[in-house]
Amino acid sequence: MTKRALVTGGAGFIGSHIADALLARGLQVVVLDDLSTGRRENVPAGAEFQQCDVRSADAARVVREGGFDVVLHQAAQIDVRKSVADPVHDASINILGALNLLEAVRTAARRPRFLFASTGGAIYGDFVTPPNLEDYAKDPDSPYGIAKLAVEHYLAYYGRVHGVEGAVLRYANVYGPRQDPHGEAGVVAIFCNRLLDGKPLTVFGDGTQTRDYVHVKDVAAANAAAATASLPAVGTLDVRAMNIGTGVETDVLTLAETLRAVSGRDAEIEFAPARPGEQLRSAVSIGKVQKLLGWKPERTLEAGLKETFDYFAAQRG
Ligand SMILES: NC(=O)c1ccc[n+]([C@@H]2O[C@H](COP(=O)([O-])OP(=O)(O)OC[C@H]3O[C@@H](n4cnc5c(N)ncnc54)[C@H](O)[C@@H]3O)[C@@H](O)[C@H]2O)c1
Repeated sequence: MTKRALVTGGAGFIGSHIADALLARGLQVVVLDDLSTGRRENVPAGAEFQQCDVRSADAARVVREGGFDVVLHQAAQIDVRKSVADPVHDASINILGALNLLEAVRTAARRPRFLFASTGGAIYGDFVTPPNLEDYAKDPDSPYGIAKLAVEHYLAYYGRVHGVEGAVLRYANVYGPRQDPHGEAGVVAIFCNRLLDGKPLTVFGDGTQTRDYVHVKDVAAANAAAATASLPAVGTLDVRAMNIGTGVETDVLTLAETLRAVSGRDAEIEFAPARPGEQLRSAVSIGKVQKLLGWKPERTLEAGLKETFDYFAAQRG
């Protein structure tokens, strides 16, 4: 029988690529999104669309009565700085919204699997040396990271106590087509648009801070694999958590130079004062997901950056 999937946040950057990947694999897809940052045109033509807030009774009803095999929960308040400015708002969407859906899963006649989009950056913080393993200490330095960790704990609890089948995908720094160039998260999208505008690329601090950049289509493929793979037996928090990244640390200066090279555009690199509290190093180990899902990223950074730049260039017409 055809499998049915619900992608929350499916009008957003990562969720819309997940919807594409699931449709391409023959699943029926429903997208649930309130369009607060997502765009209706990101929802693929083959998917059904439900516009509602993940905190609402409507969203709970969709989950409970939709007959889904899997829920891929991507909807979130994703801005770390906003979470610092207004932690109550962040927790309302990122904790209570997820909990609303988890309660709906628990009480559904047919319980779907629940895949949760967590973070492989903010959750580990700067206390550990990358590449980070799943069971490393977690001491998030932002309400955003704390909310992600809280939902991971809820999911582990729902697994152990209520038998809900769940898994956590901890994404590194995701980049690619459809990322919001005005958001706080997407340095690649920001750099692409600065290059197209002929403006300098701004690097904060000395540019040696590192991140693990993973292409959004690779992240979508990991989600599609996790939708149907057999999962390890329930246990402690990290047992069903998988890092999704490349395992490679790239510093911001190298990222800017590589993007300049693959785009063929010339732009100056300008330096601005370091941002207080910015994480210095970040990369995730991906041995576990390779073992559990047989997944690894397909794209090199150069190929992924070129594809992304070409997308933003084409957007300009
Ligand atoms: N982009 C990254 O590098 C990255 C890294 C780690 C984790 N993540 C996680 O991946 C997920 C997707 O992030 P993204 O980068 O695609 O962001 P995005 O902003 O493009 O997508 C989020 C989507 O959720 C929707 N949404 C927000 N609040 C909602 C609500 N209350 N009810 C219903 N829909 C709501 C938005 O309209 C948007 O379409 C998020 O959970 C994010 O925390 C992203």
